[in-house]
Amino acid sequence: MDKFIIRPAREADFSAISTLVRSTKINPTGLKWQRFIIAESSVGKMISCGQIKTHLDGSAEIASIAVQPEDRGQGMARVIIEKLMLNASRPLYLMCRFELGKLYEKFGFYAIQTKDMPPYFRRISCLASLVDLLAREGTTLLVMRCD
Ligand SMILES: CC(C)(COP(=O)(O)OP(=O)(O)OC[C@H]1O[C@@H](n2cnc3c(N)ncnc32)[C@H](O)[C@@H]1OP(=O)(O)O)[C@@H](O)C(=O)NCCC(=O)NCCS
Repeated sequence: MDKFIIRPAREADFSAISTLVRSTKINPTGLKWQRFIIAESSVGKMISCGQIKTHLDGSAEIASIAVQPEDRGQGMARVIIEKLMLNASRPLYLMCRFELGKLYEKFGFYAIQTKDMPPYFRRISCLASLVDLLAREGTTLLVMRCD
């Protein structure tokens, strides 16, 4: 990867963030640009993004991790995840498709059972519509925690 910077998102980045997130199969809700950081190339292209969401039950979630398709496999998710984790409180939670568990294990996350989830994650992980959707795609949802 050529030169890039990591910086807090600005309002003008919202369109690029939304386009990238919506082009993937990740949760498109709660895209508040104020919570995001982005990696930006030397020519001003948004390469990758991510955010920390705080839920009403007080739990914090690392979310919306996404990298432009042409920039994947070059550590551009890693730089966003590491930067977000540097400033985040613990425990930190996330939700991902089962097959991405290996990615997040590299950062100290481990899968947790329903009984150990904060209320927000318990509620989402039990949503029948989401469970059905993932099942149709041949996968399941993982909720992970980092202490
Ligand atoms: C998943 C995604 C964010 C990975 O981005 P990336 O820039 O290719 O990832 P990186 O190059 O930073 O990889 C970081 C580490 O995770 C590993 N990794 C990357 N993708 C992986 C995958 N699909 N499964 C398992 N491990 C993976 C890499 O091997 C790398 O390990 P290393 O640092 O020990 O070599 C990217 O493919 C993407 O945007 N996908 C669509 C959106 C999405 O699914 N986001 C995840 C939401 S939970």
